[in-house]
Amino acid sequence: MPDPSLRLAVLASGRGSNLQAIIDAIEAGTLSARIAVVISNKAEAQALERARTHGAPAVFLDPKATAPGREAYDAAILEHLRKHDVGLVALAGYMKIVTRVLLDAYPNRVMNIHPSLLPSFPGLAAQQQALDWGAKVSGCTVHFVEEGVDTGPIIRQATVPVLEGETAASLEARILAEEHRIYPEAIQLFAEGRLTVEGRRVRIT
Ligand code: GRF
Repeated sequence: MPDPSLRLAVLASGRGSNLQAIIDAIEAGTLSARIAVVISNKAEAQALERARTHGAPAVFLDPKATAPGREAYDAAILEHLRKHDVGLVALAGYMKIVTRVLLDAYPNRVMNIHPSLLPSFPGLAAQQQALDWGAKVSGCTVHFVEEGVDTGPIIRQATVPVLEGETAASLEARILAEEHRIYPEAIQLFAEGRLTVEGRRVRIT
């Protein structure tokens, strides 16, 4: 098999089901990338286990072990990204805010997935927010990361209807299935060099 050129880092804090979807797409041959490294700020993150099972380097980077402040933490992340020659960073359930230190080193090369149709319902508990608002449709968004929380240029979105009698858990599960579909697709578009950022818009060629 030819060595795929895109070397991907995934930053995750927990369960890592999106990481798993990315791994599955790589193993199925629908995503031409390789997992260069998975980094977590949580020692117990299931994402680290998933990385090891796939045979990828898994790094627990303890926030208490770096100098205080988000920038210092991102500088430590950057060292790992450089060491592993990373070309794209995918945040997948990563519960820390990324700073300029990382974004300046990886301009338009940091992606995130969020469980709502942005710009609606940014931040935590997006599925509950959609329910509480009475939205009839929600979904998920893959976007490039900029300094604001969940604000960057949108790459891909998928919609999910909000059903009668819906709970946050049932909505979350149906949105998650769409996340697992569109995140690997968005990364594949990047891998093929088909994403161009023009202001707020991402052109797909
Ligand atoms: C997903 O819903 C993702 O959109 C959000 O956090 C959750 C992470 O789930 N940013 P997992 O760790 O990928 O299973």
